[in-house]
Amino acid sequence: MSGVVRIERKERLAPSEVGAINQLLAAAAVADDHAPLDEHAWLDLVQGGRGGFGGLVAYQDGHPHPVGYAQVTRGAGSWGIEYVVDPHHRLPGNTVGAELLAEAGRLIAEQGGGHVHLWTSRSGPASERAAATIGLRPGRALYQMRRPLPIEAELLAGPLPETRAFVPGQDEERWLEVNNRAFDWHPEQGEWDLATLKEREAAAWFDPEGFRVHEQDGRIVGFCWTKVHADHDPPLGEIYVIAVDPSVTRRGLGGGLTLAGLDHLARRGLRTGMLYVDATNTRAVKLYVDLGFTVNHVDQAYVGDIPPIGRG
Ligand SMILES: CC(C)(COP(=O)(O)OP(=O)(O)OC[C@H]1O[C@@H](n2cnc3c(N)ncnc32)[C@H](O)[C@@H]1OP(=O)(O)O)[C@@H](O)C(=O)NCCC(=O)NCCS
Repeated sequence: MSGVVRIERKERLAPSEVGAINQLLAAAAVADDHAPLDEHAWLDLVQGGRGGFGGLVAYQDGHPHPVGYAQVTRGAGSWGIEYVVDPHHRLPGNTVGAELLAEAGRLIAEQGGGHVHLWTSRSGPASERAAATIGLRPGRALYQMRRPLPIEAELLAGPLPETRAFVPGQDEERWLEVNNRAFDWHPEQGEWDLATLKEREAAAWFDPEGFRVHEQDGRIVGFCWTKVHADHDPPLGEIYVIAVDPSVTRRGLGGGLTLAGLDHLARRGLRTGMLYVDATNTRAVKLYVDLGFTVNHVDQAYVGDIPPIGRG
C-alpha cells in the first residue's frame, strides 16, 4: 500500500471531508486503543476550526479516502500538531506520517514559526524518529493509569468527603476559580474560561452527576469530574479533572475525592478506572499509585522550535 502521497491543506473542512476524517479517526482509535485527536482538537475539526486552525489531509494513489490527517493549531505562544495514519497504511516504507509532519512543519514555518508541541500516543522509537525529522525532541510525557473497580472495602472504610453534583448555570464561576488556582502551573488546564467549560457541558458525554464538587463554608474547594468512555472496550471510567484548592491540600481531600469519583463510576457499572497525569506531577502520581493505579501506557509530547521561512 504505497504510492505517491498528496497532501491538501485546509483552513476549513467541508462536512463530507469531516465525515471521511472521522471514519479514519474511528478506525485509528480502535487500532490504537486511543482517540488520535485530543478533545479540543477534535472539537476544532467538527465545529470548524478557530483562528490558527490548519487541517492537512493526506491522499494516496488508488485510495478514494484520506489515508492520514494532521491538525495544526496555533495556541497562546506556541503551536500544537497532532497526526494520524490510517491503520491499513502503516506498512514499512509508507511515508504518509513523515510527509504529514513535514507539511505541518512547513505550514508553521511559513506562518512565522515558533515553539511546537507534537503529542503522540503509545509512543516509542517510531514516533521519536518521525518527530526528529522536523527537529522535535522528547518533552512532556503523560501517563495513562488504570485500576480495577469497584474499590476494595478497606479503602472505602474511612468517611469520604461529601460531594454533590455540579449544577450547570450556577457553579461555573466558582468552579473556574478553584480550577485555575489549582492548575495555575499547567499549560492546558490552568487557563480555562467560561467558553471552554460551556463547550464541555454541551458535549454528549457530559453528566453533571459524574461531576462531583466538594464545598466547605459555601466555597467549592475541590472536585472530581468523571467521564465515561462507554464505547471503549472495556468501558473506561475516567477521572477527567481533579483538583483541590491550594489552601486546603495535604489534608486527605485529593485522595478522598479520587475515591468518591471512582466509587461513583463503580456504581454506574464501570469495572476499570482510568486517568491521565503528567509524569512530572509527582504529588498526583504518588497519590494514584497509593490508591492502586498502575501505568497502562505513556503518551509523549515532542517539542522544539521551528524557524520562520518565506512562502517562496
Ligand atoms: C494532586 C492533588 C489533587 C492532591 O490533593 P491533596 O488534597 O493534597 O491530596 P491528599 O491530601 O489526599 O494527599 C496528598 C498528600 O497529603 C498527605 N496527607 C493526607 N492527609 C494528611 C494529613 N492529615 N496531614 C498531613 N499530610 C496528609 C498524603 O499522604 C499525601 O502525602 P504526600 O504529599 O507525601 O504524597 C492536589 O495537590 C491538586 O489539586 N493539585 C493540582 C491539580 C492536580 O495536579 N490535579 C491532578 C491532575 S491529574
